[in-house]
Amino acid sequence: MAIEKKEKKALSVLFQLLQFLMPYKKRVGIFLMALLFTSGITLAMGQGVRMLIDKGFVDQSMAQLNTAIVFILMLSVLMAAGTFVRFYLISWLGERVSADIRLAVFNRLVGLHPSFFESNRSGEIISRLTTDTTLLQSIIGSSFSIALRSFISFFGGLIMLAVTNGKLTLIIVAGVPLVLMPVLIFGRRVRSLSRKSQDSIADVGSYAGEIVQNIKTVQSFTRESWERRAFGIEVESAFSIARSRVKQRGFLMAGVILLVFGSLTGMLWVGGSDVLSGKMSGGDLGAFIFYAVLVAAAVGSLSEVFGELQRAAGATERLMELLHQKSDIQEIENAIDPNQLNASLRLKNVSFAYPSRPEHRALNDFNLTISAGKVLALVGPSGAGKTTVFELLQRFYDPQQGQVLMGDELSHPIDELDLLKLRQQIAVVSQQPSLFSADVMYNIRYGRLDATDDEVIAAAKAAHAHQFIQQLPQGYASELGEQGVRLSGGQRQRIAIARAILKNPKILLLDEATSALDAESEFHVQQALEEVMKDRTTVIIAHRLSTILHADSIAVMDHGSVVGQGSHDELIKRSDLYQRLYTLQFESNTAKSVESD
Ligand SMILES: Nc1ncnc2c1ncn2[C@@H]1O[C@H](COP(=O)(O)OP(=O)(O)O)[C@@H](O)[C@H]1O
Ligand SMILES: [Mg+2]
Repeated sequence: MAIEKKEKKALSVLFQLLQFLMPYKKRVGIFLMALLFTSGITLAMGQGVRMLIDKGFVDQSMAQLNTAIVFILMLSVLMAAGTFVRFYLISWLGERVSADIRLAVFNRLVGLHPSFFESNRSGEIISRLTTDTTLLQSIIGSSFSIALRSFISFFGGLIMLAVTNGKLTLIIVAGVPLVLMPVLIFGRRVRSLSRKSQDSIADVGSYAGEIVQNIKTVQSFTRESWERRAFGIEVESAFSIARSRVKQRGFLMAGVILLVFGSLTGMLWVGGSDVLSGKMSGGDLGAFIFYAVLVAAAVGSLSEVFGELQRAAGATERLMELLHQKSDIQEIENAIDPNQLNASLRLKNVSFAYPSRPEHRALNDFNLTISAGKVLALVGPSGAGKTTVFELLQRFYDPQQGQVLMGDELSHPIDELDLLKLRQQIAVVSQQPSLFSADVMYNIRYGRLDATDDEVIAAAKAAHAHQFIQQLPQGYASELGEQGVRLSGGQRQRIAIARAILKNPKILLLDEATSALDAESEFHVQQALEEVMKDRTTVIIAHRLSTILHADSIAVMDHGSVVGQGSHDELIKRSDLYQRLYTLQFESNTAKSVESD
């Protein structure tokens, strides 16, 4: 399932781009016409040159010279107009198609199952969305057009050459493989080096990115100079790859120039002696050189563009892979509306391993009933599978065995329910709430987009967040920074709680923060939670005594199973693990809060 990096691609994958060009058929048609038109004019220019020399210079006629100049000038004007149309349309198409692909890929991505993002690095996916689409844009917008143009110039030029002078054309045709040889040999090396060079630049980027993200860790361990050295090594290795690429490329250019001018000179010599002996007119030789240069230039740009097209094929393939990626979480046809079911939940004989760790069962023959409108506390040591239960209830993953059911008498497995409606009934406050780098208002309103400002503020009040929000520099308009870095852990959780309150769900899943809270914010969060739990089915992963005492029932989890369930008093008597957790975790937790008061 992981995205593979493949080097060279058959150019045929580029045909997949056609579907993205289809909506713009008219523009493509006009572009092609403009392209043919300008190529035709370029070829006609050679005739202008011939006229100029033969009629103007050789016949010593001013009038003829003027005619030839007017002819060439007219062609230039037409050429300019045609070039504008061609350039504008193809650049427009490049931008439009890459924008469309970007949209299509993003639209696909946001609907994919979360485990997809575990098996693929986010940096890799983002780079497809940005770098690969940008590459396509430049390919469609320029390289592709250059390729077409060169193709036409090449064959058109060859035909005109043959028409002008057969003997000299043979010299050219014999010369082409000579020119192509270094292009093929060095071109391949340049291509593979430029691929490497890009990868190493990407490495430099991601290295720097990681350091910036972890800057506090770096400075706290005083690893600045170590990181500087390590980064220096990355940069230098990128440079040395770039240097050898530039060198190969330099050789390539020098070789091509030598061969092209060498064969042109040879041709001039043969052609020149033909002109002297009267076998050929000066104009023919002029036109001939014009076409020969045209053909040589076409060969040169074709060989350059070929590498580009190959890269584009790679980019296209990678994007199409994303575009055709199917979500593992599929809805059945005629899915049931969960609104008609009671908001109680049940996990029945559930066994589940995360796709990235298939050999390790996070939940093992797990059974739990969550009654509608009640508060159930989940307790257990770290790694017991508590958060995993939340993930399955939201159907981010489907269990390998067993079922997650919703409703009482009338119950259905959640994979038969309408997925969006199911998730609309659930709100989650996770241990590390994720916030967007926008302002407070935006982050709370994410819970319900059509909420008015007053409703957002009411939710913030209910979440005991209003007070601290008001003390932020710009109140509700304060930017929170990436992942809410400008807030404390407790404040972040209260924003997340406000967001959940605003969503007004039937089912609430709360993953209590363990350590991020000081006593003051713990008190506020606690108050906020009591507010939000009213009349809802609530599952709360509890790390605090005050929370478990509020719960209607407590389930003790260990190694992916429920090892005990009941009230606090029952469990203290019956469950060894609960007793141990209670003395270690909950009591010391309360002690800690008292100390810090
Ligand atoms: N995304 C994941 N991919 C693979 N393994 C995971 C993932 N999330 C959690 N796990 C593993 O599943 C087990 C249960 O994790 P979790 O439900 O987060 O425990 P808890 O919330 O009780 O601390 C742990 O062994 C953990 O390492
Ligand atoms: Mg957890």
